[in-house]
Amino acid sequence: MIMPNNLGRQYSLHAEEYEHKALEVLRSGWYILGKEVSAFEEEWASYIGSKYCVGLASGLDALWISFRLLDIKAGDDVVVCANAYIACVMGITMNGANPIFVEPDKYDNIDATKIEEAITPNTKAILSVHLFGQACDMTKIMDIANKYNLKVVEDCAQSHGNHWKGQSVGTFGDVGCFSFYPSKGCGAFGDAGCIVTDNEELAKQFRIFRNYGSEKRYHNMMVGSNSRLDEMQAGLLRVKLAHLDEFNEERCRIAARYDSEINSPLIQKPQIRPGADSTWHQYVVHVPDHRDELMEYLKERGIGTLIHYPIPPHLSEAYTYLGHKKGDFPIAERYADEVLSLPMYNGMTKEEQSIVIDAINSFEV
Ligand SMILES: Cc1ncc(COP(=O)(O)O)c(C=O)c1O
Repeated sequence: MIMPNNLGRQYSLHAEEYEHKALEVLRSGWYILGKEVSAFEEEWASYIGSKYCVGLASGLDALWISFRLLDIKAGDDVVVCANAYIACVMGITMNGANPIFVEPDKYDNIDATKIEEAITPNTKAILSVHLFGQACDMTKIMDIANKYNLKVVEDCAQSHGNHWKGQSVGTFGDVGCFSFYPSKGCGAFGDAGCIVTDNEELAKQFRIFRNYGSEKRYHNMMVGSNSRLDEMQAGLLRVKLAHLDEFNEERCRIAARYDSEINSPLIQKPQIRPGADSTWHQYVVHVPDHRDELMEYLKERGIGTLIHYPIPPHLSEAYTYLGHKKGDFPIAERYADEVLSLPMYNGMTKEEQSIVIDAINSFEV
């Protein structure tokens, strides 16, 4: 069986290093907010090219706490891509704010040419989700944000180490949010996340908020949360980070081979926006007419694929209260019916990829 993702394979590439670090943390006797977290925060900030990094418990926490600390609240609108992951939208609505959906473009990311027409007098922020490992058009997004005085939060959960015009994603807006969910580029061995920012005061607020609103033990200056990155995950993330460029290069090689060898006329391969690079968090093809048949055909041949995502957030049951209906965002809805993520993981063998490519090219209707 070829799985869509295979985390065990990636683990086995550097198993000894993870095991060594895990033992070191276990034996240290210090498990929360210690030297591993501080070291990881410094290393991640430096890798991304930001002044500050604050480790948090998850990517969703990074998002909702960002909006909370940027004072986005009930009555405010936040622009977000209509084909984003549901967590992106939850990061907005957990603060009582209202998501304003904008259709994706042919690069599967927000169509920045449609943002201006979506802006209302209540719009306070744009959430740029760099989906599938590819940067949004941050030049256009920052121009619009500056023109309308909007905050910009970047969701880089799926984009660890890729760039827009040579600059790391996460460094354009007010805050860059990262998830280290295990399947992400620099994935933890459990839940973890962080934010990056150049704003010293904001970074300080995140540090206070993640620890029950306290800077000094038992002196709580705000109602915060418990969203601390723990020592074990931070230590293991430091090992992963040391290999992140190598992981990304391998994924680029896998993507390049899919690009050159998939030749089925039924399939549209992913396109990269000029100015962006991709770390290929997912290799997402569009199969306009026969996606489900292809998925089944591959499954019968022992090849697993995934759909990112089958239900656009505006049609999700969780968001019935927003009052949207089918047809409101036809491009995002069409994408939900035609996208398919092919197997893509570190440690994928040439033989495994040949099996996937041959199966796809032999699919007929
Ligand atoms: C684009 C995006 N945003 C946010 C999240 C939420 O991150 P987490 O699962 O760490 O809360 C994820 C992943 O799960 C994601 O892919």
